[in-house]
Amino acid sequence: MAKKKMTVLDFKKFKEEGRKFAYCTAYDYTTASIVDESEVEVILVGDSLGMIMLGYDTTVGVTLDDMIHHIRPVVKGAPNTFIAGDMPFGSYQESPEQAIRSACRILMETNCDCVKLEGGSNMAPTIKRMTDVGIPVMGHIGMTPQSATNFGGFKVQGGTPEGAAKLIEDARALEAAGVFSIVVECVPSGVAKAISQAVSVPILGIGAGPYVDCQVLVTQDLLDMYGDFKPKFVKHFAHVRKAMVEGLNAFHQETVDGTFPTPEFSFNKVVEGYEV
Ligand code: KIV
Repeated sequence: MAKKKMTVLDFKKFKEEGRKFAYCTAYDYTTASIVDESEVEVILVGDSLGMIMLGYDTTVGVTLDDMIHHIRPVVKGAPNTFIAGDMPFGSYQESPEQAIRSACRILMETNCDCVKLEGGSNMAPTIKRMTDVGIPVMGHIGMTPQSATNFGGFKVQGGTPEGAAKLIEDARALEAAGVFSIVVECVPSGVAKAISQAVSVPILGIGAGPYVDCQVLVTQDLLDMYGDFKPKFVKHFAHVRKAMVEGLNAFHQETVDGTFPTPEFSFNKVVEGYEV
């Protein structure tokens, strides 16, 4: 039986009921359809697209058109999964009007379920304007990759009492601005727990320890597809890269030794003058 697609309202309900859920990324139709077949409740078409699919060093070069191009096939491939579309760098920072315009493009041109954007108290006025006009917004605080350069790279955030208090203030500001959930990335477990206790919307943790409402991972990370780079918070739940390389090598071997294709994989109609 197909799983039941979550709604924006279910996010808060799950938190109230203490029911945990899982969240992973997808950037294409095939992966989306595999996630849809799984029990994972939420897909993010993240701007991590830049690094995972396009080979960039950071997420900063990803454009709004890139995002829309990748969110569309994911929506097509995962009709039973809630889908968040990431707003890329430069598509919302200029003004609330720009943010509303970009979010409307994402929602209208892809039919995904919400947009996600990075930032805390600084982005709250923009997010308030967005939610006031009916745009479902997911927040993202802690290590926000679009600003990683300012943090001196991909580093744990909230590692001091002041930093932790600032994150709690950010989460409260986002909740007041109307977000329905907040991604918290690369934060010590105790701080993430305090953030989760400070707000009524679910905290979607990536590198934020176990005391949050949902766990987020990049699919290529959790399936061990990405290669040697493995952040501390990533657990490999399968070894898909190894399985793919083994499959490709088996194909190569049977091709070079002539054992593929057998008649089973060939069109065997005998054409006069072309017998084998
Ligand atoms: O783009 C992304 O994949 C993200 C996750 C790391 C939460 O923002």
